[in-house]
Formats: sequence, C-alpha cells, structure tokens
Amino acid sequence: MEKVVSKSFRNIVENNNQLLSVGFRSPLPPQDYQLIEKLSHQNRIRIPQKFIHAKSSGAFGTLKITHDISKYTKASVLQKGEQTPMLARFSNLTSEKDAADSQREIRGFAMKFYTKEGNWDLVGSNTPVFFIKDPLKFPDLIQTKKRNSHTNIRSNTALWDFYSLTPESLHQITMLMSDRGLPKSLRHINGYGSHTYSLINAKNERFWVKFHFKTAQGIETMTNAEAVITKDRQCNRKDLYESIENGNFPKWKFQIQVMTDNRARNAAFNPFDLTKVWPYTDYPLIDVGEIELNRNPENYFSQIDKLVFCPSNLVPGISLSPDKMLLVNRSLPEVNTFDTDGSMNFSVPKKSDDHYSQPRALFHLMNEYQKYQLFNNIAESMSGVPRDIIDRQLALFEKVYPAYAAGVSKALGA
Ligand code: HEM
Repeated sequence: MEKVVSKSFRNIVENNNQLLSVGFRSPLPPQDYQLIEKLSHQNRIRIPQKFIHAKSSGAFGTLKITHDISKYTKASVLQKGEQTPMLARFSNLTSEKDAADSQREIRGFAMKFYTKEGNWDLVGSNTPVFFIKDPLKFPDLIQTKKRNSHTNIRSNTALWDFYSLTPESLHQITMLMSDRGLPKSLRHINGYGSHTYSLINAKNERFWVKFHFKTAQGIETMTNAEAVITKDRQCNRKDLYESIENGNFPKWKFQIQVMTDNRARNAAFNPFDLTKVWPYTDYPLIDVGEIELNRNPENYFSQIDKLVFCPSNLVPGISLSPDKMLLVNRSLPEVNTFDTDGSMNFSVPKKSDDHYSQPRALFHLMNEYQKYQLFNNIAESMSGVPRDIIDRQLALFEKVYPAYAAGVSKALGA
C-alpha cells in the first residue's frame, strides 16, 4: 500500500514541497504547521552532547541469577532463578561523541535492569577504583581531561598538574596507564560497580557490597602503537554490534564481595573510599549469576545514545553506602517515600590517607612487560609537561615504589 506523508499526529500533509505564503514576496503565515513542525523536528533531532560519557555503545540483554544470595539481600532481581531484561551502555569518560574508539581512557560500564520492583541503575566503570574520593574534585578532574578553553587542545600538562597534586589518584593512574587502560574491545573488559553499595536481607540486616562483572571473553588489550587511531575509529562499536548480530553474545560473570558492618569498622583501610579495592584474599568473590548481551538496539540514538542513568534508581534490598562519591547524588532533604528501607545510618568511617600501598600491590602484580608498558605509556602521556610537574609526580611514584619512579624516569629519558 502506498504510504501517505503525515504530521506527527497523523494528519495528512497535503503538500510537502511548497510553503504557504500570503503572496509571492510576502511573509510566511505561522499557521503553516507543516513548515513549523518539519523545522522544529530537525532543530531538536539531536540533544546537546553530554559533557561526559558522550561517546557510547550498548545493547540489550538478560541478567540471570544462578546462585542463592538471599542471606544478603531480599531484592527480587537478585534471587536464584530470576531472569531480568537489562541493557548496558558503555562509554568513554571524557571523549567527544565522535572521538576514535581506541583511546586510552576509562570506559563507563552502566547497566539498567528492568526489575519487577522498578528500574535498578548501576553506573560503574571498567576499573574497580576512581581517580578521586572527594566529589568536590570531580569537576576539576574532568576539566583537566577536556580541551583547553584558549587553545581548544587537550593538555598533558593540565592532566599531570592535577594528578601530581592528587596522590589518591595513583591507584587509578597505575591501572589506566597499564595494558588494561586501552581495551581491544568492549567485550573484553570487566565491569565494576566501583562504589561500595549495600545489600539488605529479609531480616533487614545490612551488608556492604562491591559488584563485579568479569568478562567471559577474557581481557584483551592494545598497545598505544596498535591503536593507530585513524585505522578504525569505530572498532569498539563495530565489534560489539557485529558480535551480537552474528549470534556471538558476550557474557560477564556476575560476582560480589561482601563485608559485614563489624569488619568495615575494623578494616585497615576505608572500605568506602573509591580509590581503594577490597583485597580478594580477605573478601573473596561470591558467584551470583551472569549477564549476556543478546540484542542490538533498533534505534541507536533513542535507545542507547541519549539514555540517562541515575545511581539513586535502586530497588528494595539494594542501597547506598557512606562512599562520598556516591552520596553526592543523595537528596539532601529527608526522603520519606517509604519505597525502600527507610533512613540509613551514615556513620563516618575512620580516616584513611594511605594512597600508596594499594598501587604498590598492583605494581608488584605486573610482569616485566606490563611494567615496561606502564612506564612507556606514562612517559608518552607526559609529553610537553613542564619539568616541575613531572618531578612532583615522580616523587609520588617514588612513594609507591622506587622502581616505579625509576622506570618512568628511564622511559622519559631523564
Ligand atoms: C562526584 C562524582 C560524579 C559526578 C558529579 C558525576 C556526574 C555524572 C554526569 C553529569 C554524568 C552524565 C549524565 C548525562 O549527561 O547523561 C555522568 C555519567 C556517568 N557516570 Fe558519573 N559522576 C561522578 C562519578 C562517577 C564515578 C566515580 C563513576 C564510575 C565509577 C561514574 C560513572 C558514570 C557513568 C558510567 C556514566 C555514563 C552513564 C551512561 O552511559 O549514560 N561517575 N556522571
């Protein structure tokens, strides 16, 4: 059947090629609804680019719970046997929407679970930690990664100026500058909730929790040299789209780490500090289930690109923690919706200023080749940075481990 052009409310468009006008050289009447609607649709066809996480990829899938963790949580989405539709939106932290995929950068790993008790948004990344633990520094961090307002060029100096004044960033820098900082594809990264959250069981007992999504495809990375940016600017998006289209559905093993209140009070580190991990030896991974991405979006822009997430979209049985970076999104006035578990106890954990032992442990885990890559990636990223800033940063690496500073110095040719 021949299709007839219609307006958005289905009225037939009589003429899609000629304007209404009062006369040959006269003004256009505002009642030319077709003209107004056609132009305004085009004007709003794209939303303004997100300031962060603008560059995206994503797909729909399923969360399956294969293990019983009911002693930790009453959330229906986390009960054994439950299957929940979901979607994942991957992103680059600060790259612009049309930037090349193969950039050394943190990848956002955001998931929306369409549970029976409402949407649960989990907004994390491909690393278990972050650069900072204090939300006040977030805009400064982002600004250093964006274009300079005068030159419109990204500045290594701004980056290392900030890092070298922010020792808590050492753990994240060591991950970002290691082989894992430049993933080969989105199927080959792990996902982490990063923040500490809480689980609440049917007896209303609370447990602190970290969420982990371990790639079943294995970790695969690229070196700076392999990531020749002009080679294929869309390699990550293409890989994810084509894998799903070909029925090769990527999967991630869903695991948690759990900490009781008592252990949290006595932990040697602050378990609510986003620059720290919880050692696996003390807090072993507990199997929960798996996620699988198995459906590409029909309309990329409306289903993935413009999607928004909110860390306060939680369901009963899953809640927040005193992680300051997470609480920045907590509503200041008291919330009395009675939808979830009532007001929480935000006791202030003991102060932790040890920025060095966890990056040191990570450094010791690396083999010689990984260390070589770490040193060279850092040296490359320090190109053009003034000497005093480099020295300030080397002093921080020295505190992590002398061989770390020495390796970077050597790679710098210093
Ligand atoms: C004070 C700290 C933070 C602030 C103020 C903040 C703010 C924001 C904003 C404004 C957006 C963009 C929203 C949009 O335009 O749609 C965003 C997105 C996002 N954030 Fe954060 N953020 C913070 C910390 C973090 C941390 C620590 C992580 C990772 C653990 C994270 C992960 C993400 C992800 C993955 C997205 C993109 C979600 C998507 O795919 O649309 N954020 N954040």
